[in-house]
Amino acid sequence: MNSTFEFFNKLKNQQIELKDCKLQWQSPSNIALVKYWGKKEIQIPENLSISMGLKNCFTQTQMVAKCHQQNKMALEYFFSNERHLLFETKVMTFLNHHVLPLMPFLSKLSLTFNSSNSFPHSAGIASSASSMSALALCLMDLATKLFNLNLPTAEFFQHASYLARLGSGSACRSIYGGFSRWGELNENDGSNEYALKIEKIHPLFMGLKDTIVIVDSGPKEVSSSNGHKLMATHDYADQRYQRADKNAHFLIEVLEKGDMENFGRIIESEAFDLHGLMMSSSTPFILLRPKTLEVIELVKQYRNENKTPIYFTLDAGPNVHLLYPPQFHSQISQELFSKIKSLDCPLIFDEIGNGPVKIDG
Ligand code: PMV
Repeated sequence: MNSTFEFFNKLKNQQIELKDCKLQWQSPSNIALVKYWGKKEIQIPENLSISMGLKNCFTQTQMVAKCHQQNKMALEYFFSNERHLLFETKVMTFLNHHVLPLMPFLSKLSLTFNSSNSFPHSAGIASSASSMSALALCLMDLATKLFNLNLPTAEFFQHASYLARLGSGSACRSIYGGFSRWGELNENDGSNEYALKIEKIHPLFMGLKDTIVIVDSGPKEVSSSNGHKLMATHDYADQRYQRADKNAHFLIEVLEKGDMENFGRIIESEAFDLHGLMMSSSTPFILLRPKTLEVIELVKQYRNENKTPIYFTLDAGPNVHLLYPPQFHSQISQELFSKIKSLDCPLIFDEIGNGPVKIDG
């Protein structure tokens, strides 16, 4: 398979047939099980990370590309049919800095994006992974159309994952359904530049549910970008990167073997590591809220009393992701979610997804 660098280099020397195109992709959000926290230039992760792609929380993005005579890419970005200048600036920066050098033909086009999320903006769910992966898939699709390429599926997704990573690190893992990994497992396996699907998954993990407890839907006090920056001078950085790599190797084994108990142990300790790192950085910050801890306590108590395999993990925010096999859903809903709801926390019901889909028409 071509490396992404070789692929785009080859494209530059090929004949292009410019034409107007309309494309649409839907791409999901993902929840990190082993967290990416700390990076080098340009979006190169300091450690391995693993995530589960979701089904119901996704971004749908339509891209209309029209040829024009100027030699400068034009861009308009709409979110839910309304022009969104903040997203437009972000996407423009991403395209100018990272994508135009790989796809210089974009300068001959005028691009209009219209995207929408399946989840409410105020749900406190990070949308950068789903939106950047949807955008990257549209761009790859555009390249294959304009150059009349017929790429093998794995190669198409690998290059899309590479582009998505340049937009937002965790977005590179949203390119695949099921479980994905990002980073170099060893010299010959995996890459820091794109994610790969984890193929060997025990049936116990098929259909895994992820119910998200929305503890707080407000904007985050510290962005992920600033969190990553703080890792550059963090006293525990080296230990963290080693621990994350160890957890990732172990999780890959656990996913293959169907070891639910160790799955739970890893994802919960990863959640605490992430938030512990925030609290112990040179500019400490806390994204957890009192209700985050209340939910965690309820989950632990319920698990111990009922011997039910339900485990929590956290993203860079106060909301709690609850992962469990689907056969326990009705029992957990009746016995645990009723208690959680009394804390006045809305729930979003999601589960493991099959990855992005191209929308025709
Ligand atoms: O992709 P970013 O730069 O938004 O960073 C994501 C960081 C976490 O969501 C906390 C962890 C992860 O691996 O997704």
